[in-house]
Amino acid sequence: MDRTLNFEYFLPTRLVFGVGSVNRVGEFAKSLGKKALIVTGKSSTKKTGLLDRVIAILEKNGVETVVFDEIVPNPLSSTVDKGAEFANNEGCDLIIGLGGGSPVDSAKLIAVVAKDGGHCWDYTGSGGGRVPKSALPVIAIPTTHGTGTESDPFAVVTNTETNEKIGVGFDQTFPTVSIVDPEVMKTLPPYQTAATGMDAFYHAIESYINTNHQPTSDLLALEAMSLINHYLPIAYRDGNNIEARTALAWASTAAGICETLSGCIANHSLEHPISAHYDATHGAGLCATGPAFFDYIRPHTKERLARVAQIMGAPESEIDIDRLSKMSIEIIHRLQKSVDIDISLEELGVEKSMLGRLAEDAMRTMGALVEVTPGNLKTKDLERILEMSY
Ligand SMILES: [Fe+2]
Repeated sequence: MDRTLNFEYFLPTRLVFGVGSVNRVGEFAKSLGKKALIVTGKSSTKKTGLLDRVIAILEKNGVETVVFDEIVPNPLSSTVDKGAEFANNEGCDLIIGLGGGSPVDSAKLIAVVAKDGGHCWDYTGSGGGRVPKSALPVIAIPTTHGTGTESDPFAVVTNTETNEKIGVGFDQTFPTVSIVDPEVMKTLPPYQTAATGMDAFYHAIESYINTNHQPTSDLLALEAMSLINHYLPIAYRDGNNIEARTALAWASTAAGICETLSGCIANHSLEHPISAHYDATHGAGLCATGPAFFDYIRPHTKERLARVAQIMGAPESEIDIDRLSKMSIEIIHRLQKSVDIDISLEELGVEKSMLGRLAEDAMRTMGALVEVTPGNLKTKDLERILEMSY
C-alpha cells in the first residue's frame, strides 16, 4: 500500500440504474419540484418517443412540463443563457436533462444560471471563473453511454465568439438524481455508439493514469475499460443487444465516477480545441489523439499502461512491463479499429497549419489537466503529440 495515500470522495448524486428505470422519473421529480423544464436536442428523443413518454410520466405524477429543445452537439453558452431565461419566465423549479451529453450538460448549466444569475460564460475559467452559490435541482437521463455526465459535476460549453470549449464543474453541478436506463440506449446509431463508448473508455484510462489516481477510481476504471473492450464491438454490430448496452451504460457511469474522483488528463485538453474549431465529435477527436498521446507519455507510466494491457486481453504469459505497456497502445488501436473509429487528425478535417494553435489553446483552456498528466508536458509536447496523430 502506498503510504502517501490521501484522497477525497464526494459524489452527492442519487444514481438509479437499470432497464426500465426511466419509468421512475415521476417519483423523483415530484419530490423535487412542481414544474420541470425538459432540456433536450432537436430530434432524437422525439423520434424515439422518449420525450413524450417522459412528459406523460411526469404529468401523471402531477409535475407540469415545458420543453427546451434547442441543444446541439458541442452546446453553446448563448443557448444555455436562453434556456435559463426560458426556465425563469416559465416559473420552472426543476431541470431535466434528457438525451446525450450535450442536453444533460446544458441542463446542469441552465440550472446554475437560472438560480444564481449572470451569464453561462461567467462560470468558465476563461469568462471570469464565477462560482455558483446554488442551482435548481437537476434530473439527468442520459441516452448515450459515454460522457459520464450522470455521475460527475462537469459540463462542457462552447463560446463561438472565442472558439473556446471549456469544461466547468462545481459541487452545485452534480445532478440531484441520475436515471441510467440501458433500454433507452438501444436506439443509439452505430457511429454514436462507437464515439460515446470510446469517450467513456478515455475517461477511464485517463483517470487511471492521472497522477491523482485513487483506489475507488482505479477499481472502476479497470472495470470500465474491460467492459468497453469486450462489449463495444458487440453493441456496434447489434444495437439491440441489451446485455451489451447494460454493460456499456454501467461502464460509462463508472468512468464518470472516475472523472469525479480522479479526473481526465491532457488527452481531453487536446480534444477540446479540436472540436471547438472543427465541430468534431468529441469521442472521435479523443480517438484521433489517444494512441499517440499514451505512447508519448508511456515512459512515465509504464506499469499502469501494462495493467491496462493485461485487463484488455494481453497474453497471460507476457509479464515484461515494457512490452506490456507498448502492447496497451496496440490494443487501443485494435479496439478503435473494431468500431471503425481509428482515425487521424487529417481524416477529422484538421489543417496541419493549425496544430501549433491547437496545442496553445489546449494549454491555455485546459492546462489544469496537463498538470496531472505524467511527464510534465509543455506546449511543445502537446504540439508533438498532435503531429504524431496527424
Ligand atoms: Fe469526454
